[in-house]
Amino acid sequence: MSPPWQLLENAPLKARNTFGIAATAPWLVEVHDSAALPDVLALPQVVQAPPLVIGGGSNLLFAGDPAGAVISLATRDVRVLSQDGDHAIVRADAGMPWHPLVMWTLAQGLCGLENLALIPGTAGASPIQNIGAYGTEVGEFIHVVEALDRTTGELQRLDRSACAFAYRDSVFKHHPDRYLVTAVEFALPRTPALRLDYAGIREELGAMGISAPGARDVADAVVRIRSRKLPDPAVVGNAGSFFKNPIVSQSQADALQVDYPTLPVFRGDAPHNRKLSAAWMIEACGWKGHRDGDAGVSADHALVLVNHGNASGGQLLALARRIAASVHARFGIAIEPEPKVIGAHW
Ligand code: EPU
Repeated sequence: MSPPWQLLENAPLKARNTFGIAATAPWLVEVHDSAALPDVLALPQVVQAPPLVIGGGSNLLFAGDPAGAVISLATRDVRVLSQDGDHAIVRADAGMPWHPLVMWTLAQGLCGLENLALIPGTAGASPIQNIGAYGTEVGEFIHVVEALDRTTGELQRLDRSACAFAYRDSVFKHHPDRYLVTAVEFALPRTPALRLDYAGIREELGAMGISAPGARDVADAVVRIRSRKLPDPAVVGNAGSFFKNPIVSQSQADALQVDYPTLPVFRGDAPHNRKLSAAWMIEACGWKGHRDGDAGVSADHALVLVNHGNASGGQLLALARRIAASVHARFGIAIEPEPKVIGAHW
C-alpha cells in the first residue's frame, strides 16, 4: 500500500499552475486518501499558516510564493453510486481531472456536462467557482458536495442549495479557509436536454455534418470551439478567462448599450441584472494581442492573459490592473479577476 500522503519541502509549483509561473511552496503535501486529511491538516508543517489547496492549478495566479503549505488531492476514483429512473448519481473524488470525467459520464450514457467539455481543472475545484461555459453551469448538475469542514473537523455533505451557486460563485468562495472539497456527486439524466443556442454550437455541429446530435456530439463541438478560441495551456501559459464578466443592473446595461450598441449583454443571474462581455470591453480598449515582455493578452481571446515564457505573477498582475483601470476609465465598469491571486491583493 502506498502511504496516504507525501510531504515535499521547497516544492516547485511551475508545473502545477497552468500559467506556468515559477513559485515555490514551503511544503507540498500530496494526499492519496482523503480519509488522511485530518492527519495532514494537523502536521506541524501545515498548521503554521493557512494551507492552500490546489486542484489542476488552472485558476491560480502566483504573484508571490504561498506563505503556507500547499495541499494537492491526488484521489481520482469515479463511479455511479445509484440509479433512479432517468437519473444516476455519479461520485467523483476531488482530484479527478475534469475533462476525462465529462467524457466518462457521456460514455456511461449520462448527459448534462457536455457543454463543459475541455474545461481545465479537477472535479473538486468545479463547484468552488461554479465552472460554466456555453450556457451551462456545473451547479445545475451537482447533487452533493462532500467537504471537510476545517472549523469542526467534520466531513459535511452540502446539497445544491447549501452550495449557494451563482455566476462563478459559491459558498466555498465565501469561506475559502473553511471547506476542503473531498468529492462531488452529480445528478445526471440519461435523456439529453441539449443546449445548442449558445455561441456557435449549432453552427459547429452543422460544420461537423451532424444534423441530429447526441450529447457526445455536443461535447465534441465544444472541444472544437474551445480549441480554436482559447489558447492551450500546454502551449502557452494561461488560466482561461482572467476576468469575470461583470454583472450590472438592467438599467446600467441599457444605458451602456445606448453608447455602445454592439456591446454584448447576456442575462445575469437574477431577472433584474445583466452580464456584460468583459472580452468586448477589453478588446475595445485595444488590449487584445498586447504584450508587456512575456506577460500578454491572447490575440485569440481578449479575456485570456497569457505567459509567453517567463512572465512573473507580478508582471501578469500589473498588466491585469492596467487593463481593469482602462476598462473602468472608459466604461465606468469594475472588472475583477476570476483566478485566485496568491501573494498579493487585487
Ligand atoms: N468577444 C470579443 N472579443 C474577444 C472575445 C469575445 O469582443 O476577444 C465578445 C464576442 O462578442 C463574443 C462574446 O464576447 O460573442 C462572448 O465571448 P465567448 O463566447 O468567448 O464568452 P466569454 O463571455 O468571453 C465566457 C466564459 C468562458 C466560457 C465562454 C463560453 C467567463 C468569465 N468566461 O467567456 O469561460 O468558455 O463564456 O461559454 O464567464 C473561463 O471561465 O475560464 C472560461 C474560459
